Amino acid sequence: MNFTNCYEDVNRANAYATLEFANTYYLAYRDLPEMVARHVTGTKAMDFGCGTGRSTRFLRKFGLTVTGVDISEDMLRVARATDPTGDYRLVPSDNLDEFPVGSFHLVLCAFTFDNIPGAMKTGIFRDLTKLLTPTGIIINLVSSPQIYTNEWASFSTKDFPENATARSGEVVRIVVTDHQDRRPVEDILCTDASYRGVYRGAGLEIVQMFEPLAKGDEPYPWVNETRIAPWVIYVLKRAT
Ligand SMILES: C[S@@+](CC[C@H](N)C(=O)[O-])C[C@H]1O[C@@H](n2cnc3c(N)ncnc32)[C@H](O)[C@@H]1O
Repeated sequence: MNFTNCYEDVNRANAYATLEFANTYYLAYRDLPEMVARHVTGTKAMDFGCGTGRSTRFLRKFGLTVTGVDISEDMLRVARATDPTGDYRLVPSDNLDEFPVGSFHLVLCAFTFDNIPGAMKTGIFRDLTKLLTPTGIIINLVSSPQIYTNEWASFSTKDFPENATARSGEVVRIVVTDHQDRRPVEDILCTDASYRGVYRGAGLEIVQMFEPLAKGDEPYPWVNETRIAPWVIYVLKRAT
């Protein structure tokens, strides 16, 4: 598949850096502190696909020492400028050899696998699994398939009716309405069944799967968020 990471782009990186934790993104991050407190047994974390560092800085607030890694130099440049003391590394071709095996208590992937073609997912998860301590976990936060066929406080998909017939592994498009860059983001649709196959292939098992819904009393202009989950969060550990 000929797929380009749309985050390798200066203008998108600058727009992305203005996003924080409001609107639909609130639901992506809301439950992570509780998940970290419940499942993470140490302080060393990798933020795989850290982008401009939003998720890296978020994890640090919970006392974790975090290394952010990404394949986009444009995103990392903004991350380093925003957070000069942070640890941000470029991983060309997803070569993770510079990181010692068995050294991370947590690997967070926040939206990263939305942008990784299906054929690459299993191999990358296998490499990330090697980096975990014996009790280490991976949190994989991804877009739900329903995000691409509905409207949201932070996103629009109404201009892409073809998303409705896309199959797992195919490209889907979505516009982020929370920032200035209204060019569609191209993601790879990945169903729950496909993710489960990827996890099996990578030697991982699901500890918890969570689909966050809004309660309705939050200060955000919800569209479908109280009845359809825009995100899926998987907590994963080495299969026993
Ligand atoms: C939607 S952004 C999310 C950024 C950040 N995690 C956050 O929550 O703000 C997805 C990031 O994943 C990165 N990415 C895509 N494919 C990747 C890969 N194969 N390896 C590492 N990072 C990747 C992109 O460059 C982009 O910065």
